[in-house]
Amino acid sequence: MRWILSKLPMAVDRSLLGVWEKRIVIREETASTNDDAMMLGRAGVASGTIVVAERQTSGRGRRGRVWMSAPGEALAFTMLVRPTMPRGEWSRLSLVAGLSVAEALESIDYMPKLKWPNDVLLGGKKVCGILVEAGEDFAVIGIGINVLVREFPEELRESATSLWLTDGRVVSLQSLLVVVAQKLEEKLAQAMEDFPALLDAVRSRCAFTGRGIRYLVHGEEREGVMQGWGRGGELLVENNGVIDTVIQADEVRLKE
Ligand code: BTN
Repeated sequence: MRWILSKLPMAVDRSLLGVWEKRIVIREETASTNDDAMMLGRAGVASGTIVVAERQTSGRGRRGRVWMSAPGEALAFTMLVRPTMPRGEWSRLSLVAGLSVAEALESIDYMPKLKWPNDVLLGGKKVCGILVEAGEDFAVIGIGINVLVREFPEELRESATSLWLTDGRVVSLQSLLVVVAQKLEEKLAQAMEDFPALLDAVRSRCAFTGRGIRYLVHGEEREGVMQGWGRGGELLVENNGVIDTVIQADEVRLKE
């Protein structure tokens, strides 16, 4: 594997990476940063290591979807973590990731919302996708943020956005990476030390709370009113006066 450590095409000045400098692996092109992080996890690399790539040739999204990230316009990176919490609680990592990105964006004056399980939205459109995958004794948190993307393919225009499309600001990919990395570290600690507080922070940013939604569970469409996230990160929906607890849903959409 060829690591390019000296230069990030997103014009990285490594000295600006601060404490992250020694923990970031930079690749000009790779298949998927999640795959690289998986490989590093199996090789015993330390928790907190990040792989970032300018170009992914097989970027992956949830449910086997393709994730396209425009070189130089989108941030695509993965953090390897070795959670000390019981494996049954690793679902918390999705919340950690979504909240970390949301708080990072808030720190630069955006007003993001979270859509279950962990999409980050701006103005109702997706600005960030997150793919958490578990290895044997580690997990990888893959994050794709549309930062400077000017134009999306026709089929995504209704549902996707970027920071630039939101307000025309040119946010540095490198600075954003560092802020999200710091938030990830902070929120990982919080997930272990004070999970209820983390959950409250997630709930307060829930995009669809109190709104009618349609959701697909194993291909079956259901309808209800979004209540938010449960204690384990599950989706809670009120369905004819009964709270439906959904751990795996294929899709969650607002009712038209
Ligand atoms: C989704 O919304 O479906 C999740 C998208 C996750 C994309 C990121 S980009 C960095 C990392 N590497 C991948 O192959 N996928 C994730």
